[in-house]
Amino acid sequence: MGATVISIKDLSKSFGKHEVLRKIDMEVKEGEIICIVGSSGSGKSTLLRCINKLEKQTSGNIFFRGKEVRDVQREVNEYRAKVGMVFQSFNLFNNMTVLQNCMLCTRKVLHLSKEEAFDRAIAHLKEVGMAPFINAKPDQLSGGQKQRVAIARALCMNPEVLLFDEPTSALDPEMVGEVLNVMKDLATTGLTMIIVTHEMAFARDVSTRTIFMDRGYVAEDAPPSELFSNPKNPRTREFLSRYLAG
Ligand SMILES: Nc1ncnc2c1ncn2[C@@H]1O[C@H](COP(=O)(O)OP(=O)(O)OP(=O)(O)O)[C@@H](O)[C@H]1O
Ligand SMILES: [Mg+2]
Repeated sequence: MGATVISIKDLSKSFGKHEVLRKIDMEVKEGEIICIVGSSGSGKSTLLRCINKLEKQTSGNIFFRGKEVRDVQREVNEYRAKVGMVFQSFNLFNNMTVLQNCMLCTRKVLHLSKEEAFDRAIAHLKEVGMAPFINAKPDQLSGGQKQRVAIARALCMNPEVLLFDEPTSALDPEMVGEVLNVMKDLATTGLTMIIVTHEMAFARDVSTRTIFMDRGYVAEDAPPSELFSNPKNPRTREFLSRYLAG
């Protein structure tokens, strides 16, 4: 593993009186594939949203390559260009074609020329198997195809870290595999990834580290070989056995 990319120090988040994240400390190193698992409501999405600055933490700090990411719009925009996010609900622009979706941010944020933005979009659409669909609108695509376009769009920014919040949870079961396969391929490219998922087999097979979140805490943080076969925390054990039973 390489240098630290993101470092999270003592991060807490409350909504009113409800403490959703409690003193999270986390180091993310280059090339790590971190899967975050845990029960509904344990704070997984809130943590990702704080990491992506979509949500402001109540206390604590986030550092990118050693420098604190402050709540200054320009710094947040620069940071977001390097730390991309893929959502459960795709968040594609429905009035734009696949190609336009993939060129928008590279043109507007990175100021690439039309040719550069086009070449990059095509390269990443090929990578996810969506190049034949460049002129389609999102509502002509299946959920799995939409999610693959969303991943290509995120890759077009050449992010250093890509965050995924349950990228397969909104998909029909027969489409889950195609998206997980794209993510498995990405995991071999050296891209740093943080993935919130309920796909335990994927977490076990693909992650370099699995984090179990419980009631706002990082309850366990271990290589998947340990976390899945010999969980130390009784709460992890309970969660996994409930999962296997279900
Ligand atoms: N904007 C908000 N305002 C108030 N409460 C919120 C808000 N966002 C999240 N919460 C609460 O914070 C807690 C954690 O939510 P979060 O979405 O992070 O959980 P999660 O682990 O992602 O769950 P799931 O597996 O269902 O996606 C929940 O109790 C939720 O109701
Ligand atoms: Mg969630």
